[in-house]
Amino acid sequence: MTEQIKPQPGIMEIKLYQGGASQVEGVSEAVKLSSNENPYGAGEGAREAYQRAVHDLHRYPPTDHLSLRGALGAQYRLDPDQIICGVGSDEILTLLAQAYAGPGDEIIYTEHGFSMYPIIANMVGATPVKVPERERVIDVDAILGACTDATRLVYIANPANPTGTMIGGNEVARLASGLPSRCLLVLDGAYAEYVEGHDGGARLVASRDNVVMTRTFSKIYGLGGLRIGWGYGPKDIIDVLNRVRQPFNLSNTQLAVAEAAVKDQAHVEKSRVSNTRLRAWLAEALAEHGVPSDTSCANFILARFASRDEAEAADAYLKSRGLIVRQTGGYGLPHCLRITVGDESACRRVAHAIGQFKGGVA
Ligand SMILES: Cc1ncc(COP(=O)(O)O)c(C=O)c1O
Repeated sequence: MTEQIKPQPGIMEIKLYQGGASQVEGVSEAVKLSSNENPYGAGEGAREAYQRAVHDLHRYPPTDHLSLRGALGAQYRLDPDQIICGVGSDEILTLLAQAYAGPGDEIIYTEHGFSMYPIIANMVGATPVKVPERERVIDVDAILGACTDATRLVYIANPANPTGTMIGGNEVARLASGLPSRCLLVLDGAYAEYVEGHDGGARLVASRDNVVMTRTFSKIYGLGGLRIGWGYGPKDIIDVLNRVRQPFNLSNTQLAVAEAAVKDQAHVEKSRVSNTRLRAWLAEALAEHGVPSDTSCANFILARFASRDEAEAADAYLKSRGLIVRQTGGYGLPHCLRITVGDESACRRVAHAIGQFKGGVA
């Protein structure tokens, strides 16, 4: 009997997503630098909205997210009718695959691309196709060369996770123009706000009918625990996604807090400025200790060690010092560690610990 009950094709191929560790046994004051969270947390406006939301717990939320979409439209100068809100940007990325790909279709992602992309492809029964990068940077020609008649979606994050690297707007536009006509380009802008003046691809979305952008409240807005994201795309695509989306996907609390967060751009600005300064400082400090990294455009750096063994030993040493970073073996980068840019004290602790580790003080 049970042999007859089988999950849909692809589901058993899924490797469970590994979240960043948050605790070290025996260390009471560990600093979590493994999930690219904002070290300052949520802004004041968002915290106050969260407190107020307690009065609405018995009410069903609106299904149209009108108020949040309006706030996003005003802040990012986008048509609210082209915006969809979801349970993290993960939900928007998933809705796109559910609506546009299935068994027999292919979904392209790149060599060190975000680990949810192949998971989502398998979830919908499509075939995940991994395309090489060039020295940890997305390679547009490699993606175009990998496209077939079966390609339905291409996921790229720009800036990318876990590499932190970016490709320029012209390259992204060249990718969009070169894709087969039945293929959608998904620009994952989870880290877009960390790049001064970067629109995450919004202008490209506005000028084409085959590009969708996703964004999140989990990173610079400091709301990873609440799970809110959004997408911006051509109206007909947003219409399709809204048909697949659960009507009550976002709670009153999520909606109210996200709206307050969008309106508190001072917190975003403060977080970006701090990240830019401390990221440069940390990268330089690690380089001085013989641990290089590519120039990062996000809120983390990908520290490169001499070997897998050295990266694992460095990870263990950092842990023993209460510093939790992310191993990137699962991303095909076993000799690297991804380190979130924390606050000043966290960055100093990381630099100091790496210095001790490399100096053999361990
Ligand atoms: C590149 C990228 N895209 C999407 C996400 C998912 O973000 P969310 O919390 O909005 O689902 C992450 C989270 O780490 C990410 O790094």
